[in-house]
Amino acid sequence: MRQAGRSLPEYRAIRGEGSIIDAIRQPDLATEITLQPVRRYGVDACILYSDIVTPIEAIGFGVDVAPGVGPVVERPFRTAADLPRIRPLEPEVDTPYVLETVRNLVAELGDVPLIGFAGAPFTVASYLIEGKPSRTYALTKALMHGDPTLWDALLDRLADLAIASLRSQVAAGASAVQLFDSWAGALSPADYQRFVLPHSTKVLSGVADLDVPRIHFGVGTGEILTLMRDAGADVMGIDWRLSLDEARRRLGPDVAVQGNLDPAVLFAPPEVVAEQVDAVLASNADRPGHVFNLGHGVLPETDPAVLQRVVDQVHAHAIDPGDGEAHPEEPATKGAMWR
Ligand code: CP3
Repeated sequence: MRQAGRSLPEYRAIRGEGSIIDAIRQPDLATEITLQPVRRYGVDACILYSDIVTPIEAIGFGVDVAPGVGPVVERPFRTAADLPRIRPLEPEVDTPYVLETVRNLVAELGDVPLIGFAGAPFTVASYLIEGKPSRTYALTKALMHGDPTLWDALLDRLADLAIASLRSQVAAGASAVQLFDSWAGALSPADYQRFVLPHSTKVLSGVADLDVPRIHFGVGTGEILTLMRDAGADVMGIDWRLSLDEARRRLGPDVAVQGNLDPAVLFAPPEVVAEQVDAVLASNADRPGHVFNLGHGVLPETDPAVLQRVVDQVHAHAIDPGDGEAHPEEPATKGAMWR
């Protein structure tokens, strides 16, 4: 998610003006920005500084990320004539700067895992079709229902783009991958199953042989959570609308969970934030396979001191291993990501 970095003064100091695409294209800058929250907060993992539109921008579709707005497209995707505008990604040629950033980071990070990522076919398609962030996804749904053949052809190409990008990030050293289908929660279960699930399944199975954990995330996905799980991820990202307890009840035992503190809660008084952090931990109840995270991205106005207290509180939480034995050699609060 658009994460810890953007609320930091050190981020604003080096980010510069203009499109985030320009920052992503500079490996030294992108490396430094990725490292800032790790250095400051001592988190257990970090996410690459890039964006879900990086690959589609790199193949020349004509996408930019407008500050304060999000992805915008000069000539949106409307007809079959637009399909050839989405050619295959050659990561070493099209996004060498991403791979250089990943290599730099892996060299600097030591034991801290780097999460690579891609946009899922549906969420990327929604930007290409709408031309800008949308509330209703009206044009996207019109194309989906109106021309299923073209829809499938578009999402198939976007799946190939995501696979190529994720594979190249792992080859360069990323330790996990996250597939962002941020806006899939706008769909009914039936539409998700017919129009999205096959394509997201293709992406996740297209990286299954790489032997890195695969995380799958969307916002407001309670009603489609089990379908999203069926796409094949090892970890499901959960936003704050669903408790981890209920998410686990729906998901079953074979999948880990990531989440899910409401980012808006960070604006409440300190004791409320602490209670809410405890509530997330209590909802997971020390079951193995919990990556503590916010339920969506850090809001830019968030006070970094509040985030520091959250990280410290989660690290101080002693996990009861449940087998009645202490595990002093392995602090249960460290590297919670990989159990
Ligand atoms: O934040 C980080 O350092 C992690 C890297 C990251 C970014 N975008 C950088 C970014 C990641 C993982 C993303 C993913 C992303 N991008 C998603 C999926 C995750 C999610 O948050 O739901 C989506 C939907 C996008 C598309 C996008 N990019 C939007 C909607 C925006 C918001 C515009 C705004 O200013 O609020 C962006 C811009 C963006 N991408 C920022 C960052 C840090 C915002 C600040 C900036 O431009 O410097």
